[in-house]
Amino acid sequence: MMGNVAYLTLKHASTLAAVFVGLYAGLLGLFTTSFFQAHVVYLHKIQMTWFNDLDVPESFGFLRSQTTPFAIKSSAGGPLYAWHILPVELYRQHEAVLLAEPSGFASDITSRFAFKLLCDDPDVRLVIHMHGAAGTVGSGYRVPNYRALSAGQPMKIHVLTFDYRGFGRSPGTPSERGLCLDAILVVEWAMHVAGVPPSRILIFSQSLGTAVNLAVSEHFALQSPPIVFAGGILVASFLDVPTLVATYRVAGTIPIRSPLARFPLLFNYLSTFIKEKWLSKDRIAGYIRANEANKEKYQLTLIHAEDDYDIPSHHTEVVYWHAVNATMPRGITYEEFHEVRQHSRNDLGAAGSVMEWRTKNGLIREELLKTGLHDVIMGNPVITLAVMRILAAADPAFAIQ
Ligand SMILES: *[C@@H]1O[C@H](CO)[C@@H](O)[C@H](O)[C@H]1NC(C)=O
Repeated sequence: MMGNVAYLTLKHASTLAAVFVGLYAGLLGLFTTSFFQAHVVYLHKIQMTWFNDLDVPESFGFLRSQTTPFAIKSSAGGPLYAWHILPVELYRQHEAVLLAEPSGFASDITSRFAFKLLCDDPDVRLVIHMHGAAGTVGSGYRVPNYRALSAGQPMKIHVLTFDYRGFGRSPGTPSERGLCLDAILVVEWAMHVAGVPPSRILIFSQSLGTAVNLAVSEHFALQSPPIVFAGGILVASFLDVPTLVATYRVAGTIPIRSPLARFPLLFNYLSTFIKEKWLSKDRIAGYIRANEANKEKYQLTLIHAEDDYDIPSHHTEVVYWHAVNATMPRGITYEEFHEVRQHSRNDLGAAGSVMEWRTKNGLIREELLKTGLHDVIMGNPVITLAVMRILAAADPAFAIQ
């Protein structure tokens, strides 16, 4: 009897194992198709805002007419769905006019009073927001994130956020090139339609958005003459997609390819199938080398929570090394840099640790927080302070207003 039970259990176990291996192999096979890759990397069909109408930002917790939904048109692709968000103290001072305005989607944003508040103030600051994979401008921790971005100067700091093609109400299909073109279009809208100069623009990004931010920042830094913004913030950045999928866990539990990372040959082989690599480690280096060569002032802040289980914070540590490496003519090995890091890190106890790397032109800052997860971190004061630190350093007069 006992023997039979053991036999049956064993048989079941091996069937189960076979099914599991089969599924896993199937998943890997699927992974080599670009359709599957696009859905895994961008997760754009996961909206998370089905029950709220993006054209009614009030239903996401905004004041009436504080947020203007509108579309940024392009000659190349479809329109991009965007939100312009007023900071709260500026709102208070103009509340009566704003309440008398129509709310909801603006087919001509330039006719809205909120837009005039953005264009007419020569002291305005604009945070352009590049969100991560999945969802829309209204999803999850993005709304508290917008509040944190402008909390340091609620008279001056506006936020512009948008959905890339294929996300939310922006038509199309996501791709590396497409997302970069979309983000460039938004930045150009800010500079040329809203008339905010790059010295008063800060680009904030999280997760997948950090890769877009770096691609766009490098693109503008390589223009002639170069265009460099007041600064950039990267929350939960990653080295590149092949490394990311080897370490990424969907919803923190399902490792897509983690077991594979233990088999480097197989990992390298499968990586050759990944078409859109998002090489942030190279782009951050390209951006920094361009600024150092052009003697352009630049500021980058990298932030990552150590308890982020979607993207391990080790990614940011290595991205940071690539950034620092790019400031040195002969470079620095990871081991050498690790030594430097031990001595120059500022330990903040339960708040984590901070390190700054200064050159004649730039400041690259790395903040590793003990807590904050992947998303929650975006609404925290550390974000408000990171914005203010960059804006105040870019223009000392701004800090004492
Ligand atoms: C570090 O910088 C050096 C000098 O620019 C370069 O040759 C090297 O490839 C860089 N290392 C990495 C890992 O990018």
